[in-house]
Amino acid sequence: MTVRIVGTAREWATLRRPGARVAFVPTMGALHEGHGALVRAARAHGDMVVASIFVNPTQFGPTEDLARYPRDLEGDRAKLAAWGCDVLFHPTAEAMYRQGLEAFRIHPPAGLGDFWCGLARPGHLAGVCTVVAKLLGMVRPDVALFGQKDFQQWRIVEALVDDLCLGTRIVRCPTIREPDGVAMSSRNTYLSPTDRIRARALSGALAAVLGCWRSGERDILALEAAGKQAWIRLQGKDPELGDLAYLEVRHQDLTRPALLTAPGVAAMAAQIGPARLIDNVLLEDHSPDLPLLELA
Ligand code: PAJ
Repeated sequence: MTVRIVGTAREWATLRRPGARVAFVPTMGALHEGHGALVRAARAHGDMVVASIFVNPTQFGPTEDLARYPRDLEGDRAKLAAWGCDVLFHPTAEAMYRQGLEAFRIHPPAGLGDFWCGLARPGHLAGVCTVVAKLLGMVRPDVALFGQKDFQQWRIVEALVDDLCLGTRIVRCPTIREPDGVAMSSRNTYLSPTDRIRARALSGALAAVLGCWRSGERDILALEAAGKQAWIRLQGKDPELGDLAYLEVRHQDLTRPALLTAPGVAAMAAQIGPARLIDNVLLEDHSPDLPLLELA
């Protein structure tokens, strides 16, 4: 199967079959099995599957990795074909930002966007909201699929679509991990072999939080302490392991009570060599196991 490539909403309109349910997977390319899981899941939600590849300049800070973000259009196109994608939406920056890069911005509300990636990366979440609103406006899908890997992004997109009455159903898909627990990410390509091993510390710390939650702990400070202590013990074994950017527990609606009274999420970020990596784990029944690193 070949994947048709379009660059504008008008071109896409010529391919859209009348009456077809459209399922959409937005990405920035450098595709891996995490994206693959979203595209495969999309098949179950639509008669036509559209994926987008657009490295969105407005969600990168001035000192971030926009220029060196990995790009491999032909490789990505072959993967999309194998995963069952029908159409690749691959717009230029001019087609996406018709009024210019600085023209319009949609900002998330403080209760969803003033912490985690919103605090560490000023402007990032507004860039995401803006481009997702544009992509949904251009593709007009019935369903759009987002990964749990970017939990805050998924939660904000869900609220954005509701608030702006965009009419697309947002589906969240589980995080796909490497066998050693590391969450798949396009940014893992930046890691040296040593940093790749070091990256296991993120899921290792989250495994400690999950274990603590499973033992019955619901106090968020105690849950966070379990993850931070695991990190510090790993630093003891590997002095090159840097500090955590954050590790925080919240309810899944992103409120932060003293005690969890509903399913929670533990989210974290850390700089590993040249890559800023994020990960999270759901604190709920049936949350899949994470490999617990040997901390002795
Ligand atoms: P990108 O990082 O390419 O991710 C595209 C989608 O794949 C997102 O929904 C993300 O959560 C999901 N994803 C990434 N790694 C995953 C993994 N290991 N398991 C499951 N899903 C995973 O997120 C973006 O692009 C951009 O911010 C975007 C939404 C496209 C807006 O520019």
